[in-house]
Amino acid sequence: MEFVGANILSIEQFERADIERVFDVADAMEPYALRRRVTRVLEGAILGNMFFEASTRTRVSFGCAFNLLGGEVRETTGFASSAISKGESLYDTARVLSGYSDVICMRHPEPGSVAEFAAASRVPVINGGDGHNEHPSQALLDLYTIRKELADKNRQVDGMRIAMIGDLKYGRTVHSLCKLLKVFRDLHLTLVSPAELAMPDDIVDDLRGAGHQVQVSDDLTHSIAHVDIAYSTRIQEERFDSRREADLYRGRFRLNQAIYTQYCEPNTVIMHPLPRDSRAAANELDEDLNQNPNLAIFRQTDNGVLVRMALFALILDVVDQVDRCARPV
Ligand code: CP
Repeated sequence: MEFVGANILSIEQFERADIERVFDVADAMEPYALRRRVTRVLEGAILGNMFFEASTRTRVSFGCAFNLLGGEVRETTGFASSAISKGESLYDTARVLSGYSDVICMRHPEPGSVAEFAAASRVPVINGGDGHNEHPSQALLDLYTIRKELADKNRQVDGMRIAMIGDLKYGRTVHSLCKLLKVFRDLHLTLVSPAELAMPDDIVDDLRGAGHQVQVSDDLTHSIAHVDIAYSTRIQEERFDSRREADLYRGRFRLNQAIYTQYCEPNTVIMHPLPRDSRAAANELDEDLNQNPNLAIFRQTDNGVLVRMALFALILDVVDQVDRCARPV
């Protein structure tokens, strides 16, 4: 793909070579993310960070990534602080805000809304999550993490065994991750959810069409017994009609240290896009796993900064200038 000036709306834009390119640039960002070096390569540039749904990681890590490259961040959080609450359209909002920014990240509750916004924007737009549809930068940081974790264990992504667990119907991170994994070879995927929250059929069909083995299950302990990666997700309460309905599914697939010790292979990597639901009755990933060295959830969040720095550098065409604009701390 041509990165320069591109919108990042769906993970399906990425071929395998594009993924490698993002990961190579992400690797090169590490000294800057760790504050061993400072670069001002995006000095004078402005990120419009527009989040119309709650976010901790995506919003802040996109902002930090831009700051670490020397740019400024302007945030809009929630509809109430935007003129959308006065009836302004996405088209007008995009035309206005793209006059104030060099690149825009956007999260919105409606599937397809970020693409609609991007069609009117005069600057590149990155999808920070559009309803239950997609979350492409999360899929990239998840895969970047998977690759690093498996490399530490002398394994690679091709041929890996992964279980995705939880709300696979509304979880946009697992939708994007499945779409991204299509470009790899010989994967074994186990999709663990209540039947009502199963992965959409089109995504499962595409995985099988790409030659991967896909099993659908509602049995957690059996499904995590022989996997390299156990990727847990929360019940996406905000997509249900009521909290009561979400409560029907909460707590059904709880992974804790005792279950991990009894059923998982010793090197199984535990992942989660976060937030995990820490309320006692929900708790899909117990805090008693926090000292487990294979719990990669905070390595995922750290890697998110590297991957998002890489996306900015590629889209704004400054990859070759990052080091030239750098100095040691
Ligand atoms: N993983 C993720 O999208 O987290 P936030 O909702 O906190 O951005």
